Amino acid sequence: MIIGVPKEIKNNENRVALTPAGVAELRKTGHTVYVQASAGEGSGFTDEEYTRAGATLLPTIEEVYGIAEMIVKVKEPIAPEYNLIKENQLLFTYFHFASSEDLTRAMIERKAVCLAYETVEKADRSLPLLVPMSEVAGRMAVQQGAKYLEKPMKGRGILLGGVPGVKPANVLILGGGIVGTQAAKMAAGLGSHVTIMDVSLPRLRYLSDIMPPNVVTEMSNEYNIREAVKTADLIVGAVLIPGAKAPHLITRDMLKTMRPGTVLVDVAVDQGGCIETCTPTTHENPTYIIDDVVHYCVANMPGAVPYTSTLALTNATLPYAIQLANKGWQQACRDNNELLLGLNVVNGKVVYKGVADAFGLADFIQQTLGAEALLPRPFYRYSSNSPCHSSSRDPVNTGALARRYQ
Ligand SMILES: NC(=O)c1ccc[n+]([C@@H]2O[C@H](COP(=O)([O-])OP(=O)(O)OC[C@H]3O[C@@H](n4cnc5c(N)ncnc54)[C@H](O)[C@@H]3O)[C@@H](O)[C@H]2O)c1
Repeated sequence: MIIGVPKEIKNNENRVALTPAGVAELRKTGHTVYVQASAGEGSGFTDEEYTRAGATLLPTIEEVYGIAEMIVKVKEPIAPEYNLIKENQLLFTYFHFASSEDLTRAMIERKAVCLAYETVEKADRSLPLLVPMSEVAGRMAVQQGAKYLEKPMKGRGILLGGVPGVKPANVLILGGGIVGTQAAKMAAGLGSHVTIMDVSLPRLRYLSDIMPPNVVTEMSNEYNIREAVKTADLIVGAVLIPGAKAPHLITRDMLKTMRPGTVLVDVAVDQGGCIETCTPTTHENPTYIIDDVVHYCVANMPGAVPYTSTLALTNATLPYAIQLANKGWQQACRDNNELLLGLNVVNGKVVYKGVADAFGLADFIQQTLGAEALLPRPFYRYSSNSPCHSSSRDPVNTGALARRYQ
């Protein structure tokens, strides 16, 4: 297959979709890889490294889109790229369609095949291409928190780990999922006293088993949070209720009970934030202060560490990209339900219910699910009154797809 890697042109996006090592893997399996000149620059990979790995460099983005059967990207295409996309061209990237009707309509119009990183889903419902960015953000949360706790940054002037004879900082982590776990590991490693709160008792049991002795777990409820914020130095917001806005676990009135210079890092800002006073900030201007409490609410934290983020992302995406290249998207989706769930728009039709619902495109999904021509043999079976129902006689397991629709 002919694979194209354009340079990301979204503002402040420094990641790249394939590393030189990824190019070498694809070349080994007989594919041709075209990389736009300087595409890897922001992540620290030179054109020469790509050439050595077997890529052919192309000077312009137009040439990359013009030649490739599969485009591998990081961020969704933006307006100047829309007209470069060809009918039947496979795009493998983050799309987040539900947040942009313009993008959705553009992809429908271009009749592309859009396989979205964020909806590739494993049988246990985990999202393997979102996890790496949560891992990065969780670890970064503590790094940023440590920095903003310094006095010149308007923090309390406390060192996370303390020193012999001086007690360490208290770190409170709300949510013990991917972000929370990574944050806890970092904070504990630096010697802080860490409390993780979650609403899931099984999760708290697990964390209690695996975490070092300077990490304690506590049930997340308003009473416990109100008490804990009074003595916390750094608070990391890491909750997620899938498909919903984050709940405001820290309310405005609680700020007054915190010590001046306390730092809040609300990683959940991309879901609205779990701190009532959180509004999204950027890497250029990451913090603001309310009631003497420092707020850090950057919505794309991994963007600040593109080298690590690129490697973390491509470690997760490459195995899927290889399957798509080796088999073509149709066969790869038939063979692997995780990839099948990544399909969002196919040849002018929305095939992902969340996206269809977001823009009132229900007719598209019904048409498409009925259109077995999409794939050479039927892989969706559903009752006539519900496109969401999967039958136990499905030729492939559509269980995850059906659950997604509930
Ligand atoms: N800002 C960024 O750059 C960035 C980067 C990556 C992820 N994120 C965001 O970070 C958030 C967390 O992501 P994740 O991958 O860790 O999710 P996750 O699903 O792995 O973990 C979320 C955890 O929150 C817990 N939770 C739910 N309600 C709670 C409550 N009331 N109190 C305490 N815990 C509660 C859940 O039980 C779960 O353990 C998401 O909103 C995600 O989008 C942001």
